[in-house]
Amino acid sequence: MIPPRYFALIPAAGVGARMGAAMPKQYASLAGKPMLRHVLDTFAGMEAITHTFAVVGGSDGYIDDLMRNGPSLAGRVTIVRDGGDTRRQSVLNGLLAMRPQIADDEWVLVHDAARPGLSAGLAVRLIEALHADDVGGLLALPIVDTLKRSDGAGRVDATVPRDGLWAAQTPQMFRYGLLRKALEAAAEVTDEASAIEALGLTPRLVPGSPRNLKVTLPDDLALAELYLKALND
Ligand code: C5P
Repeated sequence: MIPPRYFALIPAAGVGARMGAAMPKQYASLAGKPMLRHVLDTFAGMEAITHTFAVVGGSDGYIDDLMRNGPSLAGRVTIVRDGGDTRRQSVLNGLLAMRPQIADDEWVLVHDAARPGLSAGLAVRLIEALHADDVGGLLALPIVDTLKRSDGAGRVDATVPRDGLWAAQTPQMFRYGLLRKALEAAAEVTDEASAIEALGLTPRLVPGSPRNLKVTLPDDLALAELYLKALND
């Protein structure tokens, strides 16, 4: 029997408006290299990952330098220059480009370019937890803060019970055929798991790590850098 294969898909076609920076946030440098390069190096260095695809915008002017600077990623990473208007569309375009290399029952790990703190150890934890799962799932963290809903005018409207609430991270890992069907059928979604849930399925929650934070605001860069410089998974 051929062992199951795992592919990484990195949507990296966003503009990162909330960072307020000159370049898209996936190219912001931390700990010596762009965020996207951290992510590509992590997946390219993993024996468990057969191949990695990254989706960038059609007129992206940064990706060639990123691929040139540093150890060669040739043969391990394919750049798909076909980003969409939304994350969902970028992921779908990536899935389309992967089609010749992947079978419907093989696994795709979709990971944000803006989460440079993912370690190989965390990605392996996800694969080990899900390789025999019928649905698939995602890294996520239980919510520890007390949650408040705003009234829209800077005051508390209500306290939201946090029981059972988790914050979704990536990678989100699903079989190719199911993921493509779910995203094609979905209305706009902010992650892959939501599209799978819309089919009535229940993705598994696998404990992630604070180091796998999403860099969204300028202060997040410094925090992500601290985690990257620390040795622990
Ligand atoms: O903007 P946000 O942080 O939610 O983006 C999450 C990921 O989706 C980032 O890696 C971003 O580059 C990617 N994205 C994309 N195409 C878009 C919008 C976002 O690939 N149109």
